[in-house]
Amino acid sequence: MSIPRTVNLAIAACRRIPPGRTNSATGLITSRFKEHYLSKALLSVVAPVPVASRRRFTTTAPRRHGHIEPPKPGQELYVTFIEKDGQEHKFAVSEGDNLLDIAQANDLEMEGACGGSCACSTCHVIITDESYYDKMPEPEDDENDMLDLAFGLTETSRLGCQVKMKKELDGLVVKLPSMTRNMQASDFQ
Ligand code: FES
Repeated sequence: MSIPRTVNLAIAACRRIPPGRTNSATGLITSRFKEHYLSKALLSVVAPVPVASRRRFTTTAPRRHGHIEPPKPGQELYVTFIEKDGQEHKFAVSEGDNLLDIAQANDLEMEGACGGSCACSTCHVIITDESYYDKMPEPEDDENDMLDLAFGLTETSRLGCQVKMKKELDGLVVKLPSMTRNMQASDFQ
């Protein structure tokens, strides 16, 4: 999508786009996220969101986290987590497992405060290889909104609970950010 430079800069300024999603030299929103922020900007102009509907509630039953089945022989997919201190952990997992469940099942430091319902950013991970990021389905608006609030956002940031392993992601390497923001906890302070 082609957005005039001035419009791009105006959106970046008005919507306070996090640094990970703008070019540090030009201040322009990077191409990967242009569409997301442009549609948000347009929507806020043509259809202001009523106050009552800004917060979402869900009645979905809480999911149990941290439990994954070992992969069947011959069907293993591999994912590596790099912890804050640089330690690497490689796991054999099954297709369909998400990164939050994998991390919690292996006692890695990933909080998952909202239980995987895309309402926090405590499962923030950074995909180390852009080619793997490109093999993932685009983040939905809900995920992008939460990522905007994450510390240390990068162009290849994702929420771990939203990334499911599939054959194309075999060999994926993700980094855990140095900090996460637990908005649920801070809501009650
Ligand atoms: S656990 Fe809250 S968004 Fe992933």
